Amino acid sequence: MSTAQAAEATRSTLSIEDVSVGYGRKQVIDRMSAAPLLPGTLTALVGPNGAGKSTLLRSLAGLVPGKGRLRLGTRDLRQLPLSERARHVSFMPQGLPQGVALTVLETLIGALRATPPAGGPVSDEEATRRGIALLERLGIADLALRSLDRLSGGQRQLAGLAQALIREPDVLMLDEPTSALDLRFQLKVMGLVRDTVREHALIGIVVLHDLALAARFSDRVMVLHGGRLRADGSPDETLTPALLAEVYGVRGRVERCSLGHLLVLADEALPQQARA
Ligand SMILES: Nc1ncnc2c1ncn2[C@@H]1O[C@H](COP(=O)(O)OP(=O)(O)O)[C@@H](O)[C@H]1O
Ligand SMILES: [Mg+2]
Repeated sequence: MSTAQAAEATRSTLSIEDVSVGYGRKQVIDRMSAAPLLPGTLTALVGPNGAGKSTLLRSLAGLVPGKGRLRLGTRDLRQLPLSERARHVSFMPQGLPQGVALTVLETLIGALRATPPAGGPVSDEEATRRGIALLERLGIADLALRSLDRLSGGQRQLAGLAQALIREPDVLMLDEPTSALDLRFQLKVMGLVRDTVREHALIGIVVLHDLALAARFSDRVMVLHGGRLRADGSPDETLTPALLAEVYGVRGRVERCSLGHLLVLADEALPQQARA
């Protein structure tokens, strides 16, 4: 990246203004606006099932139409052709496609070919080198030549993460990237995502159900509930017992462990009438 490009990248915040998204007549995201998302910041997008988290990310990636303004720096994301939008915005969906008979390394080379990075197209040798280097960073170099359709759910999730990262996008969006991972890989992946976001000044958005993991690794937490932004701020500001009750319908505690990390403990499901 040249100095001029780096300077440009640091100015490119992601702004979401008055955004509505739905399927047919069903409105899912309802006129949502948020403070700009800043480069180098990892945001956890949380909320109960059906809150609209995946829908919001799909809309940012241009996969479902919507209303309102989505801007990356001075660019209107909605006006960009999908191919160019994919260069700026990388999205790892919640359910990765099954039955893909390519090797993990082939999918990475294919991703670089389909969406050349900002520096321009790369040769196959260079794509291979970058692919292997990334798999080594992720700790899954042993999967390079394995076929995607022969991997476990967690391994496929790691391969999907590699596909999202290889393009070096400005905005990195991961939908539940840790849902199938064991404890060690959850920590490894979230640490790597946080470090990548900081080192490359990316705008990172990660959907998580594990609120303690969200608190530990993210700079900002956006809480979606019923298609609206219910809370938005630091983990300390947003993750409170009142929020757990209102949004998740549970009586819970938010406490600090002996290492100073926030722990979110759900003690019991509240009866329906106690939730309002
Ligand atoms: N392709 C679709 N067609 C119609 N409705 C959908 C579709 N995808 C999701 N929905 C609905 O939109 C709402 C939000 O879904 P989603 O964004 O997947 O929530 P979350 O990711 O927060 O669990 C849900 O009510 C869901 O049933
Ligand atoms: Mg979802």
